[in-house]
Amino acid sequence: MSAFQYNNSEINQLLLEYLPKKKGLQETVIRAMDEAVENGGKRIRPILMYEMCRCFAETCGEERESWIGDIAPFMAAMEMIHTFSLIHDDLPCMDNDTLRRGKPTTWYTYGEDMGVLAGDALMLEAMYIVGRCAADSSDPSRAGEAIQILGEKSGIRGMLGGQAVDVEQTGKPLNEEQLEFIYRLKTGALIEASLMIGAVIGGATAREAEIAEKIGTNVGIAFQIRDDILDEISTVEELGKPIHSDEKNQKTTYVTLYGLEKAEAEVERLSAEAEELLEELPGDKETLKGLIHMLTDRTN
Ligand code: IPE
Ligand code: IPE
Ligand code: MG
Ligand code: MG
Ligand code: MG
Repeated sequence: MSAFQYNNSEINQLLLEYLPKKKGLQETVIRAMDEAVENGGKRIRPILMYEMCRCFAETCGEERESWIGDIAPFMAAMEMIHTFSLIHDDLPCMDNDTLRRGKPTTWYTYGEDMGVLAGDALMLEAMYIVGRCAADSSDPSRAGEAIQILGEKSGIRGMLGGQAVDVEQTGKPLNEEQLEFIYRLKTGALIEASLMIGAVIGGATAREAEIAEKIGTNVGIAFQIRDDILDEISTVEELGKPIHSDEKNQKTTYVTLYGLEKAEAEVERLSAEAEELLEELPGDKETLKGLIHMLTDRTN
């Protein structure tokens, strides 16, 4: 088993540049946003976005200097939306957790009111960033398409919709179809969006963007099943978040439904299918393949 590793320093630097400055009367909420983002997780969504964009842009013979400026705002916006989803997921009215990324959760440090507001603020800051970048983009029509994907996959048709069904169904038995719906939306959607936006900004055709989406579905569902496995078998130190949170909240998960062994086999199956689909896309996909593989047996 491996801890997830990738050189995140460039992404962390990028996030710092996009985060609002800690000043003004609203400084407390900005500090809460800032800390939640800077505490830092694995950054897998911006990494997947970057790598997918690189595959396409390099195939079109574009220099890194010319495409990095177009994808960077989306990488920052995606990590902000993901962090917002985590802040709200930890709230007492949701999973009621007090540890995230090795630190006290935002609501636990700043109170529930600031937790709600810091999450909202990150989501809207993300919209501000991508809206502003569209005007400066070297290809405004690609940027427009990417903004549409970001909204679609973050909101009721995506992550938020999945979270809503997840909390509504808490404590109730679920069948495989319902569970897959929740996983695809609550976790899969932002991973789908990351890969699709990378592809679209890199110059993918509509068909190629669809393949990127399908890869994201597989990786996303596998990622959530692996998260459920880690909730069961890992340690707080390794995860940086509580273990047995699902049991505490009486969640039906892939692990409670099928057991650890079948859950692990399903992660492998979905990831192998994602790697196969990757073959249909152009460019040097070795890093993406390695990332997908690494995610299957990550320990954090
Ligand atoms: C946690 O996501 C929430 C899930 C979708 C399972 P990550 O495991 O990517 O969290 P960070 O960003 O590394 O903290
Ligand atoms: C939530 O799944 C995924 C989100 C969209 C935030 P979990 O509730 O299992 O995520 P963790 O385990 O708290 O990170
Ligand atoms: Mg949850
Ligand atoms: Mg949770
Ligand atoms: Mg979990």
